[in-house]
Amino acid sequence: MAHLLITGGAGFIGSHTALVLLEAGHSLVVLDNFSNSSPESLQRVKALAGLADDARLQVIEGDIRNPADLDRAFGAAHSIDGVIHFAGLKAVGESVQQPLRYWDVNANGSRCLIEAMQRHSCRTIVFSSSATLYGFPETVPISETAPVQPINPYGHTKAAVEQLLADVNACEPSWRIARLRYFNPVGAHPSGRIGEDPGGIPNNLFPFISQVAVGRRPQLQVFGGDWPTPDGTGVRDYIHVMDLAEGHRAALDRLLSHEPELLTLNLGSGLGCSVLELAAAFEAASGKPVPYTIVDRRPGDAASTVADPSRAAELLGWRTRRSISDICRDGWVWQSANPQGYDV
Ligand code: NAD
Ligand code: UD1
Repeated sequence: MAHLLITGGAGFIGSHTALVLLEAGHSLVVLDNFSNSSPESLQRVKALAGLADDARLQVIEGDIRNPADLDRAFGAAHSIDGVIHFAGLKAVGESVQQPLRYWDVNANGSRCLIEAMQRHSCRTIVFSSSATLYGFPETVPISETAPVQPINPYGHTKAAVEQLLADVNACEPSWRIARLRYFNPVGAHPSGRIGEDPGGIPNNLFPFISQVAVGRRPQLQVFGGDWPTPDGTGVRDYIHVMDLAEGHRAALDRLLSHEPELLTLNLGSGLGCSVLELAAAFEAASGKPVPYTIVDRRPGDAASTVADPSRAAELLGWRTRRSISDICRDGWVWQSANPQGYDV
């Protein structure tokens, strides 16, 4: 059993990962400022994990940029064995409008966290990176050796934190670091109790399709029907959030049981799915229509991004187990039971 600090643990990926880690017997401190989440998600995690009290899940409201908040989080447990760092901002379009804010929260926030780790003698971290680092990939499937060439401020901040972690590791090789590059995380816990709850109009395809199916939006706009893909619509590697959560557990297990190392791993399924294929799978899972129109391409989109996940399979013994239909089934259970997300 390890004592872990989860930054951003109330968010979409953090809440699912917290549940998986609690079920694995770990003890958690979550630090979150709830700028893009609700404390309700962690109440539900606690119930799903069958916790009778707060002993194994302590929640601290605070900001990763505030050293006093970080010290409170590290002080909440006798010692913290490792950190999983989800806290950050993630909307690409917003990052173009507000680059300073993105650099402050994502890059400066990570720097503050790493400084606090040094203060508290904790040198194990799993960092939420992103396939957005690959920009317009030259070859698909994409391996970790592909060039890092982000094309927006959000991606630049992720590349900067990856570099910061590499620099820290080069200076102090006793650090244990995993930089996990997620492809497209979607779906929900099969109970439908926790899931993705985007504020406003969703930027991403899966929550948009879910909201069309549940009647919150009239139709899907498909961004481009003339891409060089089999059906002309964009192809992505959608990964069930529970597979992703299990990938974090596997990465952490490896870091805590091996010699210190710097891991850089894609977390994806290795399978491509088009916009129209995802919409059809959601219709089949939900029994609801997902009407759509094809509109212009979205600036900054790539035709196809699919992971080569073989390094994670080799080093972690981890691979995705859930299909696109599992993703749509579980996403629909969440969306239909919580049509307004956590705003009940
Ligand atoms: P999310 O917004 O649901 O979760 C992020 C959490 O961090 C939220 O609970 C938010 O309140 C918290 N937070 C934000 N700023 C904070 C701060 N200054 N101090 C403390 N807490 C703060 O996002 P998510 O989808 O769960 O993503 C988690 C991480 O994974 C992010 O770093 C994101 O960039 C990365 N990522 C996400 C995706 C995706 O598609 N969801 C893809 C690749 C990478
Ligand atoms: C987007 C981000 C990426 C980020 C990822 C996180 C952009 C340009 N890229 O990636 O940096 O890491 O989210 O999950 O924002 N689509 C539609 N209609 C919609 C929404 C999307 O047709 O309403 C299409 C897109 O053109 C794309 C596919 O659906 O082909 C997936 O889009 P999305 O869910 O936004 O993910 P990414 O573009 O992969």
